[in-house]
Amino acid sequence: MDSTSCISLLVLVALSATAASAQLSSTFYATSCPKALATIKSGVTAAVSSDPRMGASLLRLHFHDCFVNGCDASVLLSGNEQNAGPNAGSLRGFSVIDNIKTQVEAVCKQTVSCADILAVAARDSVVALGGPSWTVPLGRRDSTSATGNTGDLPAPTSSLAQLQAAFSKKNLDTTDMVALSGAHTIGQAQCQNFRSRIYGGDTNINSAFKTALQAKCPQATGGSGDTSLAPLDTTTPNAFDNKYYSNLLSQKGLLHSDQVLFNNGTTDNTVRNFASNAAAFTSAFTTAMVKMGNISPLTGTQGQIRLSCSKVNS
Ligand code: HEM
Repeated sequence: MDSTSCISLLVLVALSATAASAQLSSTFYATSCPKALATIKSGVTAAVSSDPRMGASLLRLHFHDCFVNGCDASVLLSGNEQNAGPNAGSLRGFSVIDNIKTQVEAVCKQTVSCADILAVAARDSVVALGGPSWTVPLGRRDSTSATGNTGDLPAPTSSLAQLQAAFSKKNLDTTDMVALSGAHTIGQAQCQNFRSRIYGGDTNINSAFKTALQAKCPQATGGSGDTSLAPLDTTTPNAFDNKYYSNLLSQKGLLHSDQVLFNNGTTDNTVRNFASNAAAFTSAFTTAMVKMGNISPLTGTQGQIRLSCSKVNS
């Protein structure tokens, strides 16, 4: 072999090694921890049956994990990321994940990462609330710090262009973005996150819907004006379905960032399609969830498998 082809071969081997280490696999724990998936599922099912909102909270935790420095369970570490703007006083479900981790550790010691538990818990939450299932690629490892930039998370005041930019930064396209926003078919939001929308900031809002929200959310800042809750999907708040999109068609999106998806713009047709065609939404949502779960995972020997999801190993 001449030296040029020898070098190309080396480059090829090096490239495929990189690709292999970044590759997740749905059978990652098939031999190392065959009971992992069933253990996570029973933990999620129990938590959601005693508090249906928990399904929404776990799904959101996975999103906030993946958008900040990749799906590396950094969001689960006490401190930094949890106390940052969009997360503080808002994220829920940490103790549910900690309990599931304890149960998983009891069946397989230091084998299953917290990042994978969160990705599977997000899927099982959707299923527990009547939504679609999908196969979750596995093999993520856990970060050893939480130093990510929570500024990568989109804000509820975002314009359509800002949402597109935030998702495109994570290699998610506009269809992925519209489909993933469908997660707002479950769960709740605090008044402070939509107050400007219901007090004059937005004109693209159904007036009866607005009046009902104003009764729930006083205009004054502080107290219940900030933290009272309203369902993100006013029609079927605890069911994972496509009603989020029909709400948008009647200008009943709760957040400004919800209604911008149907506001005489380029995403209107996708919203119409998802509202009328549940199968199209299911297919786009499950595809986009797998893509989101693939954002910059730690693999191979990177990071660690935490013993407890809320702290790095000592
Ligand atoms: C498109 C950009 C997005 C924005 C601006 C956004 C913003 C928000 C805000 C402000 C809340 C309410 C938080 C609170 O009041 O405490 C919320 C809740 C929620 N978000 Fe998003 N979100 C977005 C995308 C997503 C995505 C991609 C997912 C998951 C795939 C998701 C899942 C959820 C869920 C399930 C809740 C309810 C959580 C609960 O009830 O505990 N969101 N979101």
